[in-house]
Amino acid sequence: MAKIILGLESSCDETAAALVTGDGRVLAHRLLGQEAAHAPFGGVVPEIAARAHAEALEPLVRAALGDAGLKLAQVDAVAATAGPGLIGGVMVGLVTGKALAHAANKPLVAVNHLEGHALSPRLAYRLEGRDLAFPYLLLLVSGGHCQLLRVDGVGRYRRLATTIDDAAGEAFDKTAKVLGLGYPGGPAVERSAALGDPAAVPLPRPLLGSPEPHFSFAGLKSAVARAAGHHSTEDLAASFQQAVVDCLLDRTKRALDAAGPVTALVVAGGVAANGAIRTALERLATSRDLPFAAPPLWLCTDNAAMIGWAGAERFAAGMTDDLSVPARPRWPLDPAAEPVRGAGVKA
Ligand code: KG4
Ligand code: ZN
Repeated sequence: MAKIILGLESSCDETAAALVTGDGRVLAHRLLGQEAAHAPFGGVVPEIAARAHAEALEPLVRAALGDAGLKLAQVDAVAATAGPGLIGGVMVGLVTGKALAHAANKPLVAVNHLEGHALSPRLAYRLEGRDLAFPYLLLLVSGGHCQLLRVDGVGRYRRLATTIDDAAGEAFDKTAKVLGLGYPGGPAVERSAALGDPAAVPLPRPLLGSPEPHFSFAGLKSAVARAAGHHSTEDLAASFQQAVVDCLLDRTKRALDAAGPVTALVVAGGVAANGAIRTALERLATSRDLPFAAPPLWLCTDNAAMIGWAGAERFAAGMTDDLSVPARPRWPLDPAAEPVRGAGVKA
C-alpha cells in the first residue's frame, strides 16, 4: 500500500492542504488564496497573511480529509512547509503540522518550500504515469524566487544561479503596479503584452551574456518606470516581457552549459504560467535535444500537493523530523551555495 502524506503550505499568500500518495496520486487538494485581502496594499502584508493562514488552515485540512474520505489516523505522515517564507505564515503551518503529527502519533516531515517546487515536476510526471529521473535542470521562477538548480536527488541540490536583487515574478508585479494593471501582476502584464509590440521600447537586459551566473531584474523594473508615460501600456508590457524572456533564456543556456548531463529542462513556480516564457524555454530544450517539462499551472503556483509530494519523497528516504524542528524564514536548498550580494530572503 502506498503511503499517504498530508501536506500543508502557508509560506506566502496561499493557504493549502493536500493528501498525496507515495506512488504519486493526489487524493485531495484544497487551496485558499488571499489575493483579495492583500490587493488594496498592492502586495502581500505579512501580518494579514499570518492571521488568514491561522483562520483557514484547519478547515482546509478537514475539507481535504473529507474529499479523500480519510481520517487523520489513516495518514502515514504529516509534511509541512518549514521555510523559507514569511515567518508568521510558516509558523502557523509548521505548528499545525506538528500538532496533527503529535495528535495522530505520525512522523513529521519539515519541507523546504523550494524543495516542494523542485520536486513538483516528478509528481507531474507521475500523474501522467511517467517518471522524471534525476538529475534535471530546474528554472524556479516565482514571486519570491528566481533560481537555476540542478536537482540531483531528494535533498540534493546544486544552485547554479539566483537573483542578486528582485525575483522575476516580483519584476512582473512591480511592472504591473507602475503600468496600473493591478495585483497580482504577472497574468495582467501577459494579457496586456499580447496586444503590444515587444520591440517598441528599448529596455535593458541585465547581466545578458555575463559570465556571472546570476539574475538581476531591478534595473529592468526601473527602466520600465522611467519609460512609463512615453509609450502605450501594451507596448511597455510587451517590451518588458520580452526583456524578461531574453534574460531567463540567456541565463538558462549558461546554466545548461555548466550543469553537465541532465535528463530534462524543467520550469516551475508561478511565472512558469507565462506562455512566452514557456515557449522560449521549450525551444531551448528542443535545440539541446532535451525533454522540456512544465508542471500544470495548479502545481506550478504555490500549493500543498507539492509539499505533500516532497514529504512523500523524504519519508520514503527515511528523512523525517523531530517535533522541535524550527521554522526558518531563510533556508537555501543548496547549503554550499555562496551567499549572493543583495539576494535577501530569495537565497
Ligand atoms: O509560485 P507563486 O504562486 O508564489 C511564490 O512562491 O511567489 O508565484 C507567484 C508569482 C507572482 O509574482 C505572479 O505575478 C507570477 O508568479 N505570475 C506570472 C504569471 N502568472 C503568475 N508572471 C508572469 N506571467 C504570468 N502569466
Ligand atoms: Zn513558491
